[in-house]
Amino acid sequence: MKDQLIQKFVELYGNGGEISAYFAPGRVNLIGEHTDYNGGHVFPCALTLGTYGIVRKREDRKLRFYSVNFEKAGIIASSLDELVPEKKAGWTNYPKGVMWAFEKRGYHIPAGMDILICGNIPNGSGLSSSASLEVLTGIILRDTFGFDEVSMVDIALIGQDSENNFNGCNCGIMDQFASAMGKKDHAIFLDTNTLHYEYAPVILNDAKIVIANSKVKHSLVNSAYNDRRNECETALKELKEVTEIQTLGDLTEEEFETYKQAIKDPVRRKRAKHAVYENQRTLRAVEALKNQDIELFGQLMNASHTSLRDDYEVSCKEIDILVDLAQAMPHVLGSRITGGGFGGCTVSIVKNDTVERFVDEIGKAYEEKVGHKAEFYVVDIGDGAKAI
Ligand code: GLA
Repeated sequence: MKDQLIQKFVELYGNGGEISAYFAPGRVNLIGEHTDYNGGHVFPCALTLGTYGIVRKREDRKLRFYSVNFEKAGIIASSLDELVPEKKAGWTNYPKGVMWAFEKRGYHIPAGMDILICGNIPNGSGLSSSASLEVLTGIILRDTFGFDEVSMVDIALIGQDSENNFNGCNCGIMDQFASAMGKKDHAIFLDTNTLHYEYAPVILNDAKIVIANSKVKHSLVNSAYNDRRNECETALKELKEVTEIQTLGDLTEEEFETYKQAIKDPVRRKRAKHAVYENQRTLRAVEALKNQDIELFGQLMNASHTSLRDDYEVSCKEIDILVDLAQAMPHVLGSRITGGGFGGCTVSIVKNDTVERFVDEIGKAYEEKVGHKAEFYVVDIGDGAKAI
């Protein structure tokens, strides 16, 4: 992959100078959904799928971008003096946003760059292709310009800042954190309130993690995401009038049941309930995995889906079909929607000897019901972003 991309880079931009190569992964979240902006816990792992970047420093302040995934767009030219979000800049708003966020923190970028990008995460699938591009840009800037004091956690935070304040999506820290901090064969148990984290080995004995891509993305993704965030913020304000908490993640289920009437609107109450219960479920799931109780881990994944579907209302018809088919199949230990929602992917724990059947039967039944094919990936958990 690397050699081919370097060859393409040279074809496009010419030979010479120091050419470097980087990779940043996408992620799949095992449990802990829509908790990362509610002060709760998440449990994602980095994939071996992600975004590759080839880069060379320039003498001037020009930026040239090219994506193998958007060949028709050709080379997109810009400059370090034009770090403002623009519709016509398309996907380059992501790397430009990260450059903007570095500058904002006082890391002056002294020279332009020629950059080639190639991603193998299906776009818009909820597996964090944009976060991987942000984290990729972060390590490129750190290494190219010697910003050695910028840690991988800083790179995740800078990526989130660029997404929130340059690209307009009010996301939490999970995706960028997983892409920057991933570890082969481990999931990251992250407290999003403190950024304290632990790596948990993902030992599933005779089972595998399987992602099913519904190949749908509903248009409300961004607006509904921001709505959910606002609903949770309002619910938190209401709860703060009756109990001393900083975030919804501070509450146990029992405490929530005691105070929930302070949340006046029933829909908002359901949203907050999900945030509280999902956080507690995540704590329990991580414990279950540590105890090698994969059955319990799977049941908690199923409960997570029910809550995301009914209380948080971020699922959709196509995803529910995939989850129902998976949960009904013997030797599937758990299945749920993963990521922001309104389409994208499901994540399931499937016994090794059932994986083929899972892909086959669910694939067929899904196509019959929905009218197009789903895609399946058996997950390998990879490392976080790095030079390659
Ligand atoms: C998106 C966001 C994350 C997180 C998830 C839901 O992926 O980018 O920060 O909120 O949705 O868990």
